[in-house]
Amino acid sequence: MKRPGSGWTALVALALAAACGDAGGGRPTDEVPAVSGLPDKVTFADVAPIFRANCVECHRQGGAGPFPLVGYTEVLRKAKTVRKMVVGRWMPPWPADTAYSRFLGERVLSPRQIALIARWVDLGAPAGDTSALRPVSPEDLRAKSGGQAYLGEPDAVVWMPDTFHIPGDNRDRFMIAKAPFVLPGDTFLRGIEFVPGNRRAVHHMNGAMVSYAEGAKQDVFSGSAYVDADSTKSLDAYADLHLQNDDGTWPVLTPNLVNYLPGLSPPIYPPGLGGYRIARHGAFLVNTLHYGPAMTDTTDRSHFNLWFSPEPPRRPVKELFLGTLGSSPVEPPLLIPPDTVMTFRTNLRVPGDISVLTINPHLHLLGKSFLAYALTPSLDTIRLVRIRDWDFRWQYAYTFPTPLHVPGGSTIHVEAVLDNTRNNPNQPYDPPRTVRAPQGRHMRTTDEMLQFFVNYVDYRPGDEEISLEP
Ligand code: HEC
Repeated sequence: MKRPGSGWTALVALALAAACGDAGGGRPTDEVPAVSGLPDKVTFADVAPIFRANCVECHRQGGAGPFPLVGYTEVLRKAKTVRKMVVGRWMPPWPADTAYSRFLGERVLSPRQIALIARWVDLGAPAGDTSALRPVSPEDLRAKSGGQAYLGEPDAVVWMPDTFHIPGDNRDRFMIAKAPFVLPGDTFLRGIEFVPGNRRAVHHMNGAMVSYAEGAKQDVFSGSAYVDADSTKSLDAYADLHLQNDDGTWPVLTPNLVNYLPGLSPPIYPPGLGGYRIARHGAFLVNTLHYGPAMTDTTDRSHFNLWFSPEPPRRPVKELFLGTLGSSPVEPPLLIPPDTVMTFRTNLRVPGDISVLTINPHLHLLGKSFLAYALTPSLDTIRLVRIRDWDFRWQYAYTFPTPLHVPGGSTIHVEAVLDNTRNNPNQPYDPPRTVRAPQGRHMRTTDEMLQFFVNYVDYRPGDEEISLEP
């Protein structure tokens, strides 16, 4: 058997296992922003539009949020928690500091909106005249969720071949799975979106694309659909899924093609930027699919929405991968003794003049804060992202409104603080233990990592003028 190529090795190493945890408390802010000119009387009719525009996308029947916040009684029932979450800037979830850098699709409330909700709750959350409230529209639900809102109905849908049965045993499950497909011909992919069948159950998903050369595999549908990642080595799992070509060699793999986290919008760029060639015979390799603990038996069958492009990708989107398992070492090496808070850094020189499109910071449970910026040869600072209160549940890919020019010779600097004390609400151990970067190729939930992904195209003059709004 041929050894898997480098893409596969990296993927095995990446088999990512973020954990599930409780909502972390203890965010310092609990002050209502001081805003002048608020009305004395605030009713649900005044605040409902804020919930429509910023919450119901997740907080609706079947959404990613734990309960709906659509109707008056639904919000009333949760009014106190809503106030706390909104004033503490926990909800809507948007970890990036908007005072540092700005991105597309920001989920943030203005100080006035926060103060209005706080006053409404303080006044006893009165209903007021709700007769003029328009019903929730599909636009509200899709508001910032990417995919269909931008591109219309998908050109093709690829389903997981089977339903997955999740036992109600209150355990996390990490599965490796495949969704095979046969298309009418080779074509080009403009956008792809993973849609969980059961949003309550699916916690996250990291997907790659497997492309078979014409004639290399007779039956892409053979093999298992789901393999338990915890009890199977990745390479054995890939064999169980029958991912190899018929002659035992490994097909071409495009890692990190599509990811899902609650609230993550897939970056879909305007025509001409990005895109992939997609083979007639292939599969989406789901590596891994994390199901959170369920108290009762339930099921999931997820799918992928695809949007094709008539044109080949003209300006391929490339990736810089800093940190753990990537192209730049973490300094000091990632090892944190118990009861300590430590700062780790990694930096990488950019390969030439680049236009940065999307960035994705990644830490696990012990993350406390994250900072990334580029330093030009003339020592100008180009701000990338600052996250003051790391929350491992919201690991967004952040897309800039327009491509961000980073001149050749610049260096990207990343700095992350990790908190391995009891004060960290996501601390998985009591008492805390020594935590380090993954040693073997199979990552454990509680391994730590510091990673930073930068999607870019080679710079061309005028890139600054391109709107990245899909
Ligand atoms: C991107 C999806 C998303 C958006 C947008 C969103 N939420 Fe949430 N919300 C969630 C999820 C998921 C949870 C459960 C988090 C957990 O418990 O780990 C949650 C939890 C909550 C909770 C319960 C917290 C607790 O600890 O009990 C409240 C209250 C809440 N959200 C209010 C809001 C409000 C108000 C808005 C809009 C201003 C909003 N959310 C926007 C996804 C979202």
